[in-house]
Amino acid sequence: MNHPHDESRVVALVPAAGRGVRLGETLPKAFVPIGGSPMLTLAIDGLIASGVVDHIVIMVPAELIERARDLSTLAGGRVPVSVVAGGAERIDSVRAGLAAAPEATHVLVHDAARALTPPSLIAEVVAALRAGVRAVVPGLPVTDTIKSVDADGVVTGTPDRGGLRAIQTPQGFEAQLLREAYALDVPATDDAGLVERLGAHVHVIPGDPMAFKITTPLDLHLAHALLADRPVPQAVSR
Ligand code: C5P
Repeated sequence: MNHPHDESRVVALVPAAGRGVRLGETLPKAFVPIGGSPMLTLAIDGLIASGVVDHIVIMVPAELIERARDLSTLAGGRVPVSVVAGGAERIDSVRAGLAAAPEATHVLVHDAARALTPPSLIAEVVAALRAGVRAVVPGLPVTDTIKSVDADGVVTGTPDRGGLRAIQTPQGFEAQLLREAYALDVPATDDAGLVERLGAHVHVIPGDPMAFKITTPLDLHLAHALLADRPVPQAVSR
């Protein structure tokens, strides 16, 4: 939403075109329901409830575009939602979303699979962008010890856990910076990784455990349990 003293315009890209093979469900992951609502709907509702998003572009498997349009209609027209086909890899889906995105000052990229992300975290990412940060990601301290291994499974190193963060979404960017990063056409497992390749600073703000990515059947059980205990997401008061 545009605010009186603020010229920013925020577009959220929602990659939802994954097959979700690791989840073990028959439907593509973003369409798997939790507490009666598909993950995609929950993710869209969270973005809208944050009160800081002006337009949403969702990227889904080509054969599910119509179904996704129906879901977005259910979002109630409070924020315009566009639906486009994603690609083979997440990076291809985000590139397709970026191509379809309207003019904006800032772009968020937010996985549909992080369906329970609190609206307040989304608002904090946008607040950092509005404060002048060009790239910002939420991250949590790592609780497991992480080791690098070679192809034979032999440990090659143990990085200091204190300097590591597990990165979540939404990841937020100055729109022009993200477009330049995507023009690089190099591999990366997240959007900030592409921006890092440009040499730009990426800032980390505290993440939220509820923004976990629903990837495995265990994650899905957890999401069901959490949603059973949770009221409807609260709009962020401004
Ligand atoms: O596979 P993973 O869980 O890392 O996917 C993260 C997000 O990216 C999910 O919301 C998934 O739907 C999306 N994705 C996509 N296009 C792909 C693969 C994943 O939009 N080709």
